[in-house]
Amino acid sequence: MGEYAGLGEVAGKRILVRSDLNVPLKDGVIGDDGRIRASVPTIKALADAGARVVVMAHLGRPDGSPDPAYSLAPVAARLGELLGAPVAFATDTVGDSAKETVAGLADGQVAVLENVRFNAGETSKDEAVRGAFADELAALGDAFVSDGFGVVHRKQASVYDVALRLPHAEGGLVAAEIDVLRRLTDSPERPYAVVLGGSKVSDKLGVIDNLLEKADTLLIGGGMVFTFLKAQGHEVGKSLLEEDQIPTVLDYLERAKASGVEIVLPTDIVVADSFGDEASARVVPADAIPAASLGLDIGPESGAAFAAAVRGARTVFWNGPMGVFEQPAFAEGTRAVAEALTEVDGLSVVGGGDSAAAVRALGFDDHQFGHISTGGGASLEYLEGKELPGITVLGA
Ligand code: 3PG
Ligand code: MG
Repeated sequence: MGEYAGLGEVAGKRILVRSDLNVPLKDGVIGDDGRIRASVPTIKALADAGARVVVMAHLGRPDGSPDPAYSLAPVAARLGELLGAPVAFATDTVGDSAKETVAGLADGQVAVLENVRFNAGETSKDEAVRGAFADELAALGDAFVSDGFGVVHRKQASVYDVALRLPHAEGGLVAAEIDVLRRLTDSPERPYAVVLGGSKVSDKLGVIDNLLEKADTLLIGGGMVFTFLKAQGHEVGKSLLEEDQIPTVLDYLERAKASGVEIVLPTDIVVADSFGDEASARVVPADAIPAASLGLDIGPESGAAFAAAVRGARTVFWNGPMGVFEQPAFAEGTRAVAEALTEVDGLSVVGGGDSAAAVRALGFDDHQFGHISTGGGASLEYLEGKELPGITVLGA
């Protein structure tokens, strides 16, 4: 009936697909279903080719045992809606329910296994423990398709070890994501601007380090801005601060100067008296943050400057919101950057779970951007030049 990637004929075969269905979920209600939608084409292609599709995925970070709060049941139901076909759900990962569910699949049908992280073997650092779980997963399939881009930076049983045990292929989503990231790293069209936000500098050290050699402009917003401002000698009040990162940040500022990379910091900040207190929100100069307040967004002057830099670039990568975008009083910086990204004449990439959720929450449409990545950590690690175990293993 049909072939898939390098796997040859898949009709009648049990194909294990690793997808990243890790969506925001609260009280059983899915917030942003972007990752489920992004996973549909590969699953559908396999089902249409007559495969018996067995989807493996994780949700959140349960502690290696079943926890109803992290059940994939609502996600499986949503997948069924998007596929327009019933999706069977196994209430365990490799137990009786999984075996029966897989055995009950007809050609072209789809099943989802319960959260693979309900089994401690999934994330174990002990190769033997992980391998034992991977053996059980592999017994449920005849071949493996790796399509969970958001999790390929994890050396975990359903991402890495299963590929060592079965014939395997790269899924369409993983292929598309890697293709875009390659365009960002191999001779990007210039000017190349990178916008980084989010709360911690310490999460972004590797990527800043690497991009200092590659980007033309680095725009910094979000909570990590305050460590930069402090490094420049300004007071930041009660704002988020990683004191121990100040020497690293100073080194970045110097290296940027030496290599001609422009690091753009906000010149004004939206502050409040306490976290999330919209009533007290006001704009102050970035070098005059009052001692009793904390910064929760970049200010309007900065938003306009960031937007201008983004619009003037031919290649843009953005990871991390500029402020506490969930609240209107602190959302304008993120909105300004998102809007500018929609106007880029060239390649615009929104990287990561949080940034993707932010643009959708602010009412933007996926197609307004060149590419919305499903992987935050994974895309950052790629841009850091790190090896992604879930990709490397596919070459094995
Ligand atoms: C993510 O949300 O970043 C991916 O699904 C990976 O999840 P993890 O960070 O819990 O490994
Ligand atoms: Mg993560």
